[in-house]
Amino acid sequence: MSAAIFDQVRTVLKAIEQEAPQTPEELEQFRIRYIGSKNIIKPLFDEIKNVANEQKREFGQLINSAKQAAEAKFNALKEQLESAADAGVAGNLDLTAPGEPIELGSRHPVSIVLNRIINIFERIGFVVAEGPEIETDWFNFTAMNTPEDHPARDMQDTFYLKGSTEMLLRTHTSPVQARIMTSQKPPIRVIAPGRVYRNETISSRSHCQFHQVEGLYVDEGVSFADLRQTLYYFASEMFGATKIRLRPSYFPFTEPSAEMDVFLGTETEQTYRLTKGTGWLEILGCGMVDPQVLENCGIDSKKYTGFAFGMGIERQALRLYGISDIRSLFENDVRFLRPFTAVV
Ligand code: PHE
Repeated sequence: MSAAIFDQVRTVLKAIEQEAPQTPEELEQFRIRYIGSKNIIKPLFDEIKNVANEQKREFGQLINSAKQAAEAKFNALKEQLESAADAGVAGNLDLTAPGEPIELGSRHPVSIVLNRIINIFERIGFVVAEGPEIETDWFNFTAMNTPEDHPARDMQDTFYLKGSTEMLLRTHTSPVQARIMTSQKPPIRVIAPGRVYRNETISSRSHCQFHQVEGLYVDEGVSFADLRQTLYYFASEMFGATKIRLRPSYFPFTEPSAEMDVFLGTETEQTYRLTKGTGWLEILGCGMVDPQVLENCGIDSKKYTGFAFGMGIERQALRLYGISDIRSLFENDVRFLRPFTAVV
């Protein structure tokens, strides 16, 4: 009896040694047979009662060694299979295969134009300044010499914050002039790009939100000739224009004031249409900073003079890229934006 039961355990032990599972499925079968809750070693422990007393110890050790052999083999094989699986993944990796294409985004034409303008002015010593889009009435209007009854203050043009007569969405980038002049001493040479807001829902062609760039130069002895030459430099760099003209105009914060046109000619259909057949395109408003504005901002108007200019970005983007409908600039349609990927 005892000898037979010993043989039975030895047979199991031998079987464990001979087993050679190759796949995860075969290993699972191995686990079920020798380690799982219904394994074939377990019932052998019950046979211990049938073994002669003096052999019980030896029998127990034999079964335990079968149990341990099964566990050790299972763990070793499992590790082997796992590292083989890893190696398989690495082995299948084709490093020469073409990668997944990366879709490059593009800069918005407004940003491209803005960056060009900034770059042109940075080359002659202007530095970028910024101001908040939510402004106070003082910076947007009062400091800029815009009288209480000026039409630009009209509720129809200006978005005031709800319930406020003091806080508003800036209607131009000119308040940045006042912010700079109240916080810095001349010489001041800044270029201030940014978003501005006007309540223009009355006109279907207009948009309530657009972009401007403001320029300001304040120092001793700054003259209208400096303004004209600076703008001429800009027009030739930006548009390749050889001619500019300054038409008298009016802004509350400059005196004298002017509007600058650049000569684009009428050769192409596009420049003909854009200039309404005149060859001239209006680009910006400008002038000598009104002494009252300097004083409002704490700058001695007897010692210092300055010039300022401000221009919209969207129209220049239309001109540079031959875009026919300004609404394309606001719609964020990828079919429109994608071609700008190549432009930096
Ligand atoms: N702020 C003016 C506008 O929005 C432009 C401007 C800026 C004019 C600076 C003169 C000087 O139209």
